[in-house]
Amino acid sequence: MSEAVMMQQRRRYRVGVLFGGRSSEHEVSLASARNVMDALRQAGHEVVPIGITPAGRWLPQPDAWLRLNNEAIERLSEWRLEIGRETTVASDLPIPQSPNLSPGAPLPPVDVVFPVLHGPYGEDGTVQGLLEMLNVPYVGSGVLGSAMAMDKDVARKLFAYHGLPQVRYLTVRRQAWRATPALALSRIEAELAYPLFVKPANLGSSVGVSKVRTREQLAAAITLAAQYDSKVLVEVAVPNAREIEVSVLGNETPIASIAGEIIPGNEFYDYNAKYESDSSQLLIPARLDDATLQQVRDLAVRAFQALECEGLARVDFLLDGATNAIYLNEINTMPGFTRISMYPKLWEASGITYPDLVHRLLELAIERYTVRQENSTGR
Ligand SMILES: Nc1ncnc2c1ncn2[C@@H]1O[C@H](COP(=O)(O)OP(=O)(O)O)[C@@H](O)[C@H]1O
Ligand SMILES: [Mg+2]
Repeated sequence: MSEAVMMQQRRRYRVGVLFGGRSSEHEVSLASARNVMDALRQAGHEVVPIGITPAGRWLPQPDAWLRLNNEAIERLSEWRLEIGRETTVASDLPIPQSPNLSPGAPLPPVDVVFPVLHGPYGEDGTVQGLLEMLNVPYVGSGVLGSAMAMDKDVARKLFAYHGLPQVRYLTVRRQAWRATPALALSRIEAELAYPLFVKPANLGSSVGVSKVRTREQLAAAITLAAQYDSKVLVEVAVPNAREIEVSVLGNETPIASIAGEIIPGNEFYDYNAKYESDSSQLLIPARLDDATLQQVRDLAVRAFQALECEGLARVDFLLDGATNAIYLNEINTMPGFTRISMYPKLWEASGITYPDLVHRLLELAIERYTVRQENSTGR
């Protein structure tokens, strides 16, 4: 069957694409959303762009949605600046109403929402909770999976429960750190050996992440990470770490892509290496022997299931450069989604094109929604 015929047979959806948002990955979201919207349109779906400003304001007026619809998508970043200057105060904002229940409400009716939002308020369960309240199908993990994957401490506890390999780590709470820093430092030094990585439990894009080799550096790094979150992880550094990533797709029976590798331009994959320099490289496929490749794919699916993820996630590993030991690092439930991002690239290399991927995600969202409708409310 030709691609054109397959397209004909597919259902066309009205897709609300949520993008922008309050996290430090706002700009990444704009780039991802632009590519997702293009692919949706190419596949014959109708796109309803829904922008969220860096201040967290949803573009409130229906006529503004229409205005955006008529604007060229290339002008998204100008539009962002424009709405960034809006003077609407939060209390004036209409709360988005259920697209199913209230036609004409601030959110236009849509069949499914694609939240192309990264980081806090995007992939941490908060916007997913809002979409649950609106009773609308949405792409990606639900409230629970999103929240568990976003919290590196909770994620690691679940990895441990499921016997998945990870580095030794400790959690330091901000209040305890401020009250008794010496106690925290001696506990860490008693249990973990330098070099160590320090990171906020809930963030992303390497913000607040440091590598430390001394007690002084450790203290400074915890203080820094504690600016971003009330929980800080301190963990053993994987020696000569290689960054291996696998894409996972599905609900109850997820599948794993081939593995990719990131060659960071800096000492580790920090914010600068991710977003500001083009020195980092994506290597697809990763340079792994067959047995290791099979192992990371298997671990990726198990980690996805351990955190009750749905739809999509990119599972990130650190591989010990000397021993080839594999450690799970983290799961991103809304990974970067531009055409050149690792998540879709890995699928492309595994035989699923970008437009196909986007379409499958819509179907997975609707499948999950339909299954959820079967639950009795107990009333
Ligand atoms: N235990 C570790 N050993 C070696 N490198 C690490 C370790 N933890 C983090 N890193 C490096 O720091 C980067 C960012 O850390 P990560 O835990 O992925 O946080 P983020 O959610 O901000 O991406 C990783 O991509 C890796 O380069
Ligand atoms: Mg990471």
